[in-house]
Amino acid sequence: MRIGLVGTGRIGAFHAATLKSLAAVEQVVVTDVEASRAELVAKDLGLEFAASVDDLLASGIDGFVIAAATSAHAALIEQAVAAGIPTFCEKPVAIDLGETQRIVELVEGSDVPVHIGFQRRFDAGYRSAQEQVASGELGFIHHIRANTNDAFPPPREYIPTSGGFFRDCTVHDFDIIRFVTGREVASVFATGANRGESFFGEYGDIDAAAALLTLDDSTFVAVSGTRYNAAGHDVRMEVLGSLGSIAVGLDEHTALRSAEPGVTFPGGQSHSTFMDRFQPAYVAELTAFTEVVAGTRAVPCTVRDALQAFRIADACELSRRENRVVSLEEIGR
Ligand SMILES: NC(=O)c1ccc[n+]([C@@H]2O[C@H](COP(=O)([O-])OP(=O)(O)OC[C@H]3O[C@@H](n4cnc5c(N)ncnc54)[C@H](O)[C@@H]3O)[C@@H](O)[C@H]2O)c1
Repeated sequence: MRIGLVGTGRIGAFHAATLKSLAAVEQVVVTDVEASRAELVAKDLGLEFAASVDDLLASGIDGFVIAAATSAHAALIEQAVAAGIPTFCEKPVAIDLGETQRIVELVEGSDVPVHIGFQRRFDAGYRSAQEQVASGELGFIHHIRANTNDAFPPPREYIPTSGGFFRDCTVHDFDIIRFVTGREVASVFATGANRGESFFGEYGDIDAAAALLTLDDSTFVAVSGTRYNAAGHDVRMEVLGSLGSIAVGLDEHTALRSAEPGVTFPGGQSHSTFMDRFQPAYVAELTAFTEVVAGTRAVPCTVRDALQAFRIADACELSRRENRVVSLEEIGR
């Protein structure tokens, strides 16, 4: 099949290389609002280049991958739906809740499949956790701890169009908490701070956050994250149940060192970015998208799933700004 990709920045160039490596994909065509970026990626990877999104959509592609900046997602999904082309879009669906809701209505009112890129759903550890929770072998789940610690911050230019820390970063935790538990979030209390470079604060953003989510079955979930974790890119989840407790992301590569004398675990090289931490998950995710394009698989992460994760992020942002518990009922559906 022939896949078009828009946005050849950090994740777009990485996805283009992954797509090229997939057996189901014969050709990848790339474009970017900054044409020279797409031309360079096309040249480096041996891909086709299109001068614009219009040209790309008209070039006979079977599937469309959106990896452009967040602020461009909604309009690009609209264009893809109008063209009737199955689409994969990086998270989030849109920059704000109103736009996200509008896109959910548009997609659900069409027959065009749109798959949103929460790659943790394809990570072996999270999938195993989901199965162990669903089978009941952990008993009832009383607590979950989830964290996303980036080794280093993104550049200043990324922040104003990112949507802010909860919508950009911990939104992955919010999605995977729903996926692993099969439950919805009832309320949140969140806080955050700008401890690193001042540009986060200049855009009204934070670089460290903590949130307590209460799920609809009274499971308590502590979520934390930072843009400054030089020990490595550290993404984990602990699921603590009445009959057993498990950890996702706890292996030789975990970016932690034991303070206990004589304990050498974990002893391996830490992950440095989301790309090496989730490389196999991205391959599985884009393979799943090719199956969506081929019509052999239902969309594995829908725009409505993304809306739910976004509502949790919005609730956290409201909670930290107003320093109070926010019920999910307060955040538009
Ligand atoms: N799932 C994940 O793990 C993950 C990781 C990183 C980023 N992301 C998401 O991927 C998206 C891109 O992030 P990034 O870090 O690669 O950003 P980036 O700034 O490195 O790249 C964005 C690219 O999009 C291009 N672009 C912007 N507006 C455009 C438009 N209207 N049309 C065409 N191209 C346009 C820019 O020129 C740039 O090349 C964001 O939405 C982000 O949330 C997801």
